[in-house]
Amino acid sequence: MANSTFDMSNQWLPFTPNRDFHRDPRVLVGAKGMHFQTHDGREIIDGVSSLWCVGAGHGRRQISEAIKQQLDTLDYSTAFQASNDKAFMAASAIAELAPGDLNKVFFCNSGSEAADTSLKMALAYHRARGEGHRTVLIGRERGYHGVGFGGMSVGGIPGNRKVYSGALLPRVDHMAFIHNQADFPFIQNEVPQWQTDPLVDLETRILPLHDPSNVAAIIVEPIAGSAGWYIPPQGYLKRLREICDKHGILLIFDEVITGFGRLGTAFGADYFGVVPDMLNFAKCVTNGVFPLGGVICRDHVYQTTMTGPDHAIEFAHGYTYSGHPAACAAALATMQIFREENLFARAGEMGPVLGDAMHSALRGLPNVIGIRSLGLAAAVELSGLPGLPGKRAYDIFLDCYHAGVMVRAAGENLVFAPPYIVESHHIDAMVSTLAAAIKRHA
Ligand SMILES: Cc1ncc(COP(=O)(O)O)c(C=O)c1O
Repeated sequence: MANSTFDMSNQWLPFTPNRDFHRDPRVLVGAKGMHFQTHDGREIIDGVSSLWCVGAGHGRRQISEAIKQQLDTLDYSTAFQASNDKAFMAASAIAELAPGDLNKVFFCNSGSEAADTSLKMALAYHRARGEGHRTVLIGRERGYHGVGFGGMSVGGIPGNRKVYSGALLPRVDHMAFIHNQADFPFIQNEVPQWQTDPLVDLETRILPLHDPSNVAAIIVEPIAGSAGWYIPPQGYLKRLREICDKHGILLIFDEVITGFGRLGTAFGADYFGVVPDMLNFAKCVTNGVFPLGGVICRDHVYQTTMTGPDHAIEFAHGYTYSGHPAACAAALATMQIFREENLFARAGEMGPVLGDAMHSALRGLPNVIGIRSLGLAAAVELSGLPGLPGKRAYDIFLDCYHAGVMVRAAGENLVFAPPYIVESHHIDAMVSTLAAAIKRHA
């Protein structure tokens, strides 16, 4: 059913070319399972779990019922100097899912807030240990940690930093990017094994330059999601853990995309067998239906920070909506669905189906210079149009949308990351639509 009763003159759209959007609006008015309904009465396959959020598929009654019931019971309660039952229950459920002694959950509302929370937590931890001089933060080129000043500073996507470069945090450095286009343009459902060591530069240049004793934390995404699903080589995260341990540096995994099942395991930390000191989460924890994010930290980070007089706040940080009862009720219902339907394992099973389909349909098509798949996500990389970075991928995204498939354009990449309930026939439709669009834009 068509619905065009809205007026587009007031909303300034985030991370969207606004003027172009107004010429060709893409407005979603309904969703169920794997599909959206559009304002002009069409059905679109959600090939990206709506920004990597909707793992269990759209329209899950169990979650909306849990939210409704919560709103009728306790709609909101102050987050400071008191808390609510659902926040404690959600924290326990999340801690139980997390590996090792990642046991303490600090709630916020988004991935950006999780990034800034984890960076502040690292500074507070070192200060409590009497090492307040440890203020250097290290991220990675093309990393994405949201849009707050902290996350943006450790982030490494040039287009996100350019306009704000004069206002970024000082004492931040970046490790080299983890992609090896020359040797591994095509990665099919496996972690590549490089001959070279991408962490040499960290050990021999970046850390000596700042002196490791001044470094508070290193933050990475286990897989670079927003940049376009770039997979680190074998052993990379383990080595990073060792380097951090050697120098007393905290290791933060930003698992906003890899958390809650995308790789077939609860977290990327499980997939790669490495426990960070802090783990940031957001997307998928409530199946996208209510804003919630957080940082899970290891016991030692929490215990060390618990200093000062009993009546004094140990960590001067928090949000009005930290642990919102409705968000936490949504998280509990979402985790129950994940558990009951074994959806993480299903993501692990459907991942190779998506990966194989992408490789067999797209390899050899015009302008395709790489395909990378791991877990239930896959990206195809195209050579860009001269002088117009990102335009070819953006045009193909538009083309797919009009052909009934939502794919995500990220730089020169097109990325699929469907809900874990995806079936083979959806994957066939997604990949064949993308293949046809790539050919049309040759
Ligand atoms: C790894 C990572 N961190 C942080 C964020 C920011 O999350 P939000 O948009 O919820 O602030 C994202 C969003 O894509 C992300 O992928």
